Formats: sequence, structure tokens, C-alpha cells
Amino acid sequence: MSIKIKNGRIITATDDYIADIFVDGETIKAIGKDLPIDADSTIDASGKLVFPGGIDPHVHLDMPFMGTFSSDTHETGTRAALFGGTTTVIDFVLQKQGHSLKEALAEWKSRATGTAAGDYSFHMAVTDFNDNTKAEIQEMVENEGITSFKTFMAYKGALMIDDSQMIGLMQEVKKQGGLVTVHATNGDVIDFLVAKHKREGKLSPLYHYLSQPEVTEAEASGRFSDMADYTDCPGYIVHMTCEGALNAVRNATRRNQKVFVETCIQYLLLDASLYEAGGSLDFEGAKWVMSPPLRQKKDQQTLWAGINQGLVQVVATDHCPFMWAQKLMGKDDFSKIPNGHPAIENRMELLFSEGVGKGKITLNKYVEVACTNAAKIFGMFPRKGTLAVGSDADIVIFDPNEKHTLSAKTHHMNVDYSGYEGWEVTGKVKTVLLRGNVVIDANKCLVEKGNGQFIKRNKVSGKI
Ligand code: URP
Ligand code: ZN
Ligand code: ZN
Ligand code: ZN
Repeated sequence: MSIKIKNGRIITATDDYIADIFVDGETIKAIGKDLPIDADSTIDASGKLVFPGGIDPHVHLDMPFMGTFSSDTHETGTRAALFGGTTTVIDFVLQKQGHSLKEALAEWKSRATGTAAGDYSFHMAVTDFNDNTKAEIQEMVENEGITSFKTFMAYKGALMIDDSQMIGLMQEVKKQGGLVTVHATNGDVIDFLVAKHKREGKLSPLYHYLSQPEVTEAEASGRFSDMADYTDCPGYIVHMTCEGALNAVRNATRRNQKVFVETCIQYLLLDASLYEAGGSLDFEGAKWVMSPPLRQKKDQQTLWAGINQGLVQVVATDHCPFMWAQKLMGKDDFSKIPNGHPAIENRMELLFSEGVGKGKITLNKYVEVACTNAAKIFGMFPRKGTLAVGSDADIVIFDPNEKHTLSAKTHHMNVDYSGYEGWEVTGKVKTVLLRGNVVIDANKCLVEKGNGQFIKRNKVSGKI
């Protein structure tokens, strides 16, 4: 089955030109002006943007967390991602403390295999680093194609590792050609502040925010960067929210160290005033109870600037949806509200509308941070993340002018509220191809569960 996409404005991280793309089977076979090749079908992309399928390297699908499971399965989450122009996601496998990486991987495979509609890969979260875990790293890299290892400096007793485990892991991951990623906040300080607020009877969502001040993220980001420098291990800080943390990375650049930084769409667009929009006792703020929490407007400016300065390489989502009934588990105690926010479907359109549309980033930068850099950092480039001959035909055809309104009534994520209810965005995903198949067209998903493939990833160098 071959497809010709005609006359689209092709945008990659570096290029911007009008041409045709010829797809045959799963990959792009030719790109050129007025291609003299016949195809089984033709899509007219005149007046549209054509860019690579988005990559969201930070999603939590069907994940056991805080006494419940995130509400999107690999099926519903990847399908919603396709609707929003994201063709590949990287989900997190969580090792159970006291158990092996292999067991965790088997558990995640049992939920994801045959269910995902879009392509997916896994990060391995190491929550218990010891001699047994150390011996499994090589197998993950060489046999499973899992080359990134996630760590948590918070969530003590469940996911957090200490600094000696971190150093040991970094040394082994460096040796095996992988990358260590981190949830960089100071778990002990946060636990101290949570306990203090609870003792004082301060139990509303606002106190989730007040228990994770900027310094907890700045300190951990600096500490992580120092340990990565000491071990010479490639490092990546997930969901960065604030100026203090970005300054820690800026400092690392002075010793010529590269620490990759991811922010998430919510930290660019939303701020902490939402936690007390209805007063300090308001529970509505639970919609945005995530870790780290939303910050200040000045932090949003820092993050946009960081993108343009090349300090922030990736805009992800940390998609971790919970139904309102699940959020209500913390009605009387903010520390029991499942942490997380839905955005897997909205990221590409929001970033286009608020970023490109409002003049904050260029079209090339948009593709770089939403598609290309994640593919490069995580060992999927050039198979994923760009439009080039030989790459997977993961292609988004996008109308830059069509306006529409985001709402839980119309989204495809399995969650009964939207963090962006009523937001009008300019720019809409019209048609999406995944490995040469049209998977989204005219607001319909044309593939079933099981269409998504697990993507084994290559070793990485820590340089892009
Ligand atoms: O609030 C969040 N971010 N939930 C998901 C787990 C994590 O820390 O990424
Ligand atoms: Zn076990
Ligand atoms: Zn996290
Ligand atoms: Zn996360």
C-alpha cells in the first residue's frame, strides 16, 4: 500500500519547504517537489503543515500508583495520543522494591502487549538498586532495547532511591551505554513539609503545592547533575518546572556538562494560582495535583526562554490521568490525592497554538522539542522523530488555522475532566500516519488496539 502526500509544507527540526512525500509500506521512500511517482492513494496537503509524528517520552499508562491505577490503558492512552498527533510514547515500568527489573517488565508487557494503538517504548524505573538489579541493566539494554533508567529522588518508601544507589546505578548505566533520567525533587524535605502541614490541619490541594517549594526541585536538580558529572553518565531531568532547577543545569554547562531537560506542557501554560482559584480550601485544585506542582508565571517565562536557549530539549506531558472519583480519594487529605494530570492528547495542539501561534517558538523549534529531540536523546533517531527517506512514515498533517475548543466532552482520554476545559486552540491535527498507515482521519481513529508496536531503542551517547 503506497500513499503520496502532495504539496504539504514540510517542517522538520531544520527545514521548511513545500514538497510531496511518497510512502510505501511502513517507511518514507521519497521526498521531492512534484514527485513523478504514482501511489495507491493521494492525500492533498495544500495549505497544511506536514511534520513528523510527535513523541511523548513521559507517560504513565495503566500504572499502579498511590493506591490506584492511572485511568488510561495502553489502548486508550495511545489512541488519544494519535488523535493529538503523537505517534510514539515512552511509558514507565516501575520496579517493585525488593523485586527484580525482569518481573516488573513482565508485568508491564502483560498489560501493554497487544493493547496499544500507537507505538510505544518503555523506560525502566529503578526503585531498588542492588547487586541483583545491577546485573540486570545490561540485559535491559542489550536484549530488551530499554536504554533509559528512571530514578526518583522523592516518593520515599515506594519509589525513591538514595544517593549511594544513584551513584551505583549511574556507573553501571554509563558502562552499558544508557541514560539515567530523574524525578528531581528532595523527597525528605517534601515529606517534612507534608507532615508539618498535616499536623497543622492544612489539608486542601493548596498545601500539596506549598509542600514542594522551588528549592526542593532546584536542590535535587543540582545534586543529580553533580552525580551525573562525577560518574560521567548521560543524565535527563524529567518534568522540570522552575527557574531554580534550570539554573542548576545552566551551572552544569559551565563545566561543559550536558544534562538534558524535559518540561511538560502544563508547566509552560498553567500556574499555581489554580490551587486557590476558589479559595484556600477549594478542592478543584486537585485537577492539577501533580509532582512537581505548577509554579509561577516567572517560571513559565524561564522555561520558554530555556527552550529557545537550547537548555530545555523536550516538551512532554507526564500524562498520568485519574478520574475525578480517584482524585476524591484525597478529599480530606491532599497527600492522598493521586498525583497526575491528563494531556497526552492535547500536547501538540497546545504547544502549537500557545508556542508557535503566539510567537514564542519557531515552527522548527516546535518540531525539535515535540518530536526530534526525544527521538535523538532516547535512541530512536532517525527511525522516529523526523521526515526523511528511510524513516518510519509517522506523519502529521496539520491545519494551522482551524480553531477548536478543548473539552472532556470531546477528548478521547479516559478521564472525566480536562485540565484545559474550554481552551480555544488554533491549529488542528487532521490526518495522522503511523508506519505508513492512516490511523487518524476526519476525527476518527481507523485502527484497533494492538496496532502499536513496541520500539526497541538503541544505546545512547548523551549527546545530540
Ligand atoms: O504527578 C505526577 N507527576 N505523577 C506521575 C508520577 C511522576 O512523578 O512522574
Ligand atoms: Zn520478586
Ligand atoms: Zn515524576
Ligand atoms: Zn511522570
